[in-house]
Amino acid sequence: MTQPFSLDGRVALITGASSGLGRHFSQVLANAGASVVVGARRSSRLDELVEDIGTAGGEAAAVPLDVTDRDSIGNAFTEAEARFGVVDLVVNNAGVASSGRAEEMPDDDWQVQVDTNLTAVHRVACEAARRLIAAGKPGAIINVASILGLRVAPGTAAYNATKAAVIHLTKTQAVEWAKHGIRVNALCPGYFRTEMNQALLDSPRGGELVNRVPMRRIGRMDELDGPLLLLASEAGSFMTGSALVVDGGHLCSSL
Ligand SMILES: NC(=O)c1ccc[n+]([C@@H]2O[C@H](COP(=O)([O-])OP(=O)(O)OC[C@H]3O[C@@H](n4cnc5c(N)ncnc54)[C@H](OP(=O)(O)O)[C@@H]3O)[C@@H](O)[C@H]2O)c1
Repeated sequence: MTQPFSLDGRVALITGASSGLGRHFSQVLANAGASVVVGARRSSRLDELVEDIGTAGGEAAAVPLDVTDRDSIGNAFTEAEARFGVVDLVVNNAGVASSGRAEEMPDDDWQVQVDTNLTAVHRVACEAARRLIAAGKPGAIINVASILGLRVAPGTAAYNATKAAVIHLTKTQAVEWAKHGIRVNALCPGYFRTEMNQALLDSPRGGELVNRVPMRRIGRMDELDGPLLLLASEAGSFMTGSALVVDGGHLCSSL
């Protein structure tokens, strides 16, 4: 029963692996049997993660990666390939968020979110696809979007817009690459406590937000494991172009 979820023999690259969801995803994929390559800018954190994965019996390597830099993306894939072989599983997870009223948002804030959350997702996925197509190998790409790509909250205009775009981009990539055996799906988490949102969750607004979740709580990281492995593995072999929501019912909360 669990065999279809195995990632034995797979080579995974996870962007934004230095904290939060990306760190957790890296450990989950390694536990399922993948050789994992973890990328982000804060390399000391990646080194700790590689050690933790090794201690748990997994196989991992760290690569320096700034997803807003095209050369850095290419180098990360080249290093990953030299270490473990062609990357056939990508978790496009790196992301940034800032909050504030739309009309007051500095251009720089807008741009960094578009560059990191959208342009980089496109470039990383294309780098993976080009290499898979050249190698004649199938693969899976998971683009991490958000419930804010499907419904809006005020104060995060750029984030909402980039995450909605990632969902549409995912569907386009799925349609274009299906013939090459490359599945592309979006994972849309609700709220999970990380460095990105801890200040919000600890504020009075955070309490109100949790009250609007039908399950009356935020998610635990391990509640993303099944959905992640479904999209990554043969268990999801007929899934492509989907946007998988994991949010305790938050999107269904009453209007
Ligand atoms: N937590 C949630 O509730 C939630 C809900 C929905 C969606 N998400 C999405 O989940 C993803 C992970 O977020 P998180 O909550 O885990 O936040 P986090 O703890 O702040 O992690 C963000 C990660 O992105 C990396 N990153 C940012 N800019 C980068 C760049 N230019 N190049 C490479 N890596 C970069 C950071 O690494 P470095 O700074 O070391 O580079 C860090 O590892 C994001 O896409 C986020 O939008 C989170």
